[in-house]
Amino acid sequence: MRVVSGIQPTGNLHLGNYLGAIRNWVRMQDEMAEGQECLFFLADLHAISMPHDPAELKRATLEMTAALVACGIDAQKSVLFNQAQVPHHAELQWLLNGTARMGWLNRMTQFKDKSGKNREGASVGLFTYPVLQAADVLLYQTTHVPVGEDQKQHLELARDIAQKFNNDFASDDAPVFTLPEPISPPQAARIMSLRDGSKKMSKSDPSEMSRIELVDDADTVMKKVKKAKTDPEPLPSESAGLVGRPEALNLVTIYAAVSDISVDDVLREYGGEGFGKFKPALAELLAETLRPISSRFNELLTDREALDAILARGASRARELGRPTLDATYAALGF
Ligand code: ADP
Ligand code: NA
Repeated sequence: MRVVSGIQPTGNLHLGNYLGAIRNWVRMQDEMAEGQECLFFLADLHAISMPHDPAELKRATLEMTAALVACGIDAQKSVLFNQAQVPHHAELQWLLNGTARMGWLNRMTQFKDKSGKNREGASVGLFTYPVLQAADVLLYQTTHVPVGEDQKQHLELARDIAQKFNNDFASDDAPVFTLPEPISPPQAARIMSLRDGSKKMSKSDPSEMSRIELVDDADTVMKKVKKAKTDPEPLPSESAGLVGRPEALNLVTIYAAVSDISVDDVLREYGGEGFGKFKPALAELLAETLRPISSRFNELLTDREALDAILARGASRARELGRPTLDATYAALGF
């Protein structure tokens, strides 16, 4: 079993990123059996398909690396790297561009969503990046890719490309590419803004009070949780009682996700209590969970060289793992 998963590098990481994405990677890593490994990469090459700020990309890549390590990705157990340091990804994409069909890419709904009305002004990269995604997984003979609903279509495309390439250029008993299977990532909580239960917690929300950041200290967490929007009702004793109370539901969801129990379990303990009691308990739980993460995160961010070294080591291992497939691809194509 080989699992490969990528994440766009982003800065200003918050609780939503941790509970919705990063923690799942840590779990996947920890569930790998002896001799199996996960490859986790920062999809920095993907970033240039949309308008981007070069200095911000660099900062976000380092911040995301620090966050992943602080949250428990072990660069000895897993291969942690950024795409840009493994040119095999871009190289394989070009080779696969000969196999991917225009019609297949034309059907990708993400291109339609992201290019919007300005199709003519979209970058060519935005159109072809599903082929880069195919290269990201096919390069490593990946067997399993964790994909959410929004990425299913792109994994299908990777399988179509692999299959057509194998048919066109390889013999049945020696296929060049493994067809990757989708696995559903463990169900992740969707964390909402602390100021508005209808918006998700996001780094781009102008109000810092709307999100708990990974760098927040205990006092900041307490202040943000206490100021979080709620309603005057006490907590219900069952989850059905949270219908129509998005802010209350969000706080209980956060408590449940952080302590790995169900919303109903939380309500069994706090049902009937007001927020005057629940909020400090939540803030304390969050502060306790984030304390080791934020201290490691801050420490890593002050040591740029150590972060560079982690990524360099991961990239070197990834290049080694990807080399045989890249060589086989060139050979199959007649180079
Ligand atoms: P943001 O919305 O802050 O810009 P991104 O879109 O960069 O965050 O998301 C990075 C990762 O974190 C993605 O895997 C995304 O699904 C996850 N994520 C972001 N916000 C949340 C949230 N509020 N709840 C759960 N997961 C989230
Ligand atoms: Na976003």
